[in-house]
Amino acid sequence: MNASRTIPVRVARVESVTQDVRRFTLESAQGGRLPAYSAGSHVVVTMRGKERLWRNAYSLTTPAGSRDAWQIMVRRVPQSRGGSAFMHSEVHEGSELEISMPSNFFPIARCGAKHVMIAGGIGLTPFLSMLPDLAQAHARVEMHLCCRPEDEAAFRELIAKRTTGDIAVYTDLCDASERFGALLAAQPAGTHLYTCGPEGLMNGVARTARALGWLASHFHQESFGGGSHGAPFTAVLAQTGREVNVRGDESLLEALEREGVDAPYMCRGGACGTCALEVLDGEPDHRDFCLGEAERATGGQMLPCVSRARSERLVLNI
Ligand code: FES
Repeated sequence: MNASRTIPVRVARVESVTQDVRRFTLESAQGGRLPAYSAGSHVVVTMRGKERLWRNAYSLTTPAGSRDAWQIMVRRVPQSRGGSAFMHSEVHEGSELEISMPSNFFPIARCGAKHVMIAGGIGLTPFLSMLPDLAQAHARVEMHLCCRPEDEAAFRELIAKRTTGDIAVYTDLCDASERFGALLAAQPAGTHLYTCGPEGLMNGVARTARALGWLASHFHQESFGGGSHGAPFTAVLAQTGREVNVRGDESLLEALEREGVDAPYMCRGGACGTCALEVLDGEPDHRDFCLGEAERATGGQMLPCVSRARSERLVLNI
């Protein structure tokens, strides 16, 4: 799926949550109700700047099923590719945006005997729609959040409003295995683990969970990191021979879209696998949370929403 089916929305309200996080309330630009969605869903927001276009995925933070208005939260990232800066500087009350239909790659595992959620910073956003859902189902929940001290009060309040489960907030830096090793080792059978946040935290939690023997089916990750910066490279589209230059400040997926290639995507954060492309030649620089070690070792596939190239050229089977 790509964003061919979009929903025009109007920004009804913009509020500051912390110094660099804003909450945007979105209503249908055409009036009427928005589509239904499930807890953990996200939408992809298309932002049209003067010289370029961005598409960023943001979790819906309103309770699942909200249809009069949706909310998203956006952290301004100083070294970002520009989408979050655009949302903060160019999007105001009354602005119109295009968003995708909601998608959900981070659903609640309904069969879970208990739900342990680990978030880092703005990675708490998918949990904001999941917590009320779990509270309504009287599920056992533990929410663990790592964040900066200056964000603690606002983020804690967001969580506390949505759950009666246990909440722990950490504002000091600590290795994920040191922080969460004992927690993950002590969970009862049937517990499901969810994580969303910066790459270091997600990889640390994943490594710890794997080392402790957590089943892959009980471990869920969400990522909205988007493509990170890196050296420019050239993508060769083998089916037509076209060459696409990927700039240092854009992802391969964004470069393909800029050149009019209709590439599939969903999460745009390296977590769902929807955008996978076959690599015929060259060395990918894998930055996703999706492909396994074996898949990476063969080098046959890459996820262009986040991954780049170690070689100057990548030949892709598109
Ligand atoms: S769009 Fe989800 S991994 Fe690339």
